[in-house]
Amino acid sequence: MSLLLDEIALAAARLAEAGVESPRAEAELIAAHVHGVRRTELHNVPDAAFDARFWEGVGRRAAREPLQHITGRAYFRYLELEVGPGVFVPRPETEVMTGWAIDRLREMDVAEPVVVDLGTGSGAIALAIAQEVPRARVHAVEADPIARDWTQRNLERCAAAAPYTTGRVSLHGADFTAAGPGARRAGVLPELDGKADLVISNPPYIPLGASVPPEVGEYDPPAALWGGEDGLDAIRAVERTARRLLRPGGIVAVEHGAPQGAPVYWVFCEEAGWRDTRNHKDLARRDRFVTATRPGERADG
Ligand SMILES: C[S@@+](CC[C@H](N)C(=O)[O-])C[C@H]1O[C@@H](n2cnc3c(N)ncnc32)[C@H](O)[C@@H]1O
Repeated sequence: MSLLLDEIALAAARLAEAGVESPRAEAELIAAHVHGVRRTELHNVPDAAFDARFWEGVGRRAAREPLQHITGRAYFRYLELEVGPGVFVPRPETEVMTGWAIDRLREMDVAEPVVVDLGTGSGAIALAIAQEVPRARVHAVEADPIARDWTQRNLERCAAAAPYTTGRVSLHGADFTAAGPGARRAGVLPELDGKADLVISNPPYIPLGASVPPEVGEYDPPAALWGGEDGLDAIRAVERTARRLLRPGGIVAVEHGAPQGAPVYWVFCEEAGWRDTRNHKDLARRDRFVTATRPGERADG
């Protein structure tokens, strides 16, 4: 066995002992990052090139720092995003909801669909939609200035790779819980009232006091996690905001925690002004997001 493979096996054992879920895969990903190769190319790394930064990365991961903070990268659909302290690391569950929204947008008989992403964080959802539905105009809303710096960085990164994409994403520093017309505070994006074709959000939805793994509790920003006593505070705000922003026939998609499928379904009930409300599952077959349509003449998607 080569020195590198020996070291990876030792590192995997150390990560397993620290409670890391996929220790071998993560040890390989740290090695690949340190050597600037793909995981599948590790066998090409000469033993002489072995790098001590590998053990520094393994130590950080054993202390339960997220892999994505160690590598500085997160992968989301077809995007490679920059992430680190102060921004939520995008999750595979959210890729499923984003894929659902992309399919609906592609079916829509609208020349340039208007999309709003509430709580954009790294920009994962907004940028994936802009990349995969190039005719969409995407408005990304984020209240936290530190998270917004990461969004901006990713907008620029994607602009460099594909200039047509970023031109269609506008970043707005705003609080999506602000109330709408008639209230003292203006709602977010008042210029889009009744005009949006799709509102999408992965808001904070963990109930206060719930226990979370160290990678989440110590590294994801609190504003990205906690959703009040029952976890639904931000989801209720998304419902109110989506109701104001969407045009008749426009659709909303909101992510939630696995046990929240039933309560979130009722947040988007007929009495609140919605039709075709549906629960959707993630790849692990757990309830993960709810979609609903604004009643009215246009019924795209
Ligand atoms: C769970 S993270 C999701 C980030 C990204 N959309 C994703 O899926 O990876 C929620 C994001 O919403 C932002 N956020 C929370 N409450 C907000 C509010 N009231 N207004 C605007 N953004 C908010 C947080 O700062 C955080 O970036």
